[in-house]
Amino acid sequence: MDGNGRWALKRHLPRNTGHKEGIKAMMRIADACHKLSVPYVSFYAFSTENKNRPSGEVKGLVSLMEDNFSRLSSELEANNIRLNVIGDITYFGSKVQKIIETGVEKTRYLTGGVFNIALNYGGRDELCRAAELYKNSDGNAKLSDFLYTAGQPDPDILIRTGGEKRLSNFMLYQLAYTELFFSDTYWPDFSEAELNDIVDEYYKRERRFGK
Ligand code: FPP
Repeated sequence: MDGNGRWALKRHLPRNTGHKEGIKAMMRIADACHKLSVPYVSFYAFSTENKNRPSGEVKGLVSLMEDNFSRLSSELEANNIRLNVIGDITYFGSKVQKIIETGVEKTRYLTGGVFNIALNYGGRDELCRAAELYKNSDGNAKLSDFLYTAGQPDPDILIRTGGEKRLSNFMLYQLAYTELFFSDTYWPDFSEAELNDIVDEYYKRERRFGK
């Protein structure tokens, strides 16, 4: 969800206002994915590296989580969607952890789709954690059984907004054969129409998976 900061700067607003608008866009696009019957959708909200941003911005992001997570999980619940967190949320204070865990708990058995949100997530961290768990497992398991996304299919589509063309430590294992799309749109402006165009474009691509 790249471009929140620049979206705000362009309007002479604080960066955190951009993140606030980013949450609205996230909900809008989650709804649009639901309409398209996308069974798994993932949003990269806070990376392991985002912790190194200025402390005011990090605090602002954490308080946005505090203020918005209950509403987010209630909306998912109303749409029969399971909330799944990928990343190590022990980094956040107990208040935020509790709000997140309550949302995960109340949507645990919902069957209409999965909404992954990456919080203090990094692909390298995920792989190191998985390797450690794999090393201590009984030998019948696969490395992917220990990823945060265990049991989920690999993504078909990755969309990065804000004009950057890199993965920035996102799902390094899972994206091996994912179709990549890069948009110059700042995340708060990313629309359902642009999502639909990307999905149309996706269906035109030939996927060979190396075969
Ligand atoms: C990247 O834009 C965006 C982020 C680092 C944060 C995204 C987070 C949210 C949308 C809010 C998450 C909140 C909840 C409730 C889960 P950027 O700041 O790097 O933008 P820039 O590249 O224009 O500076």
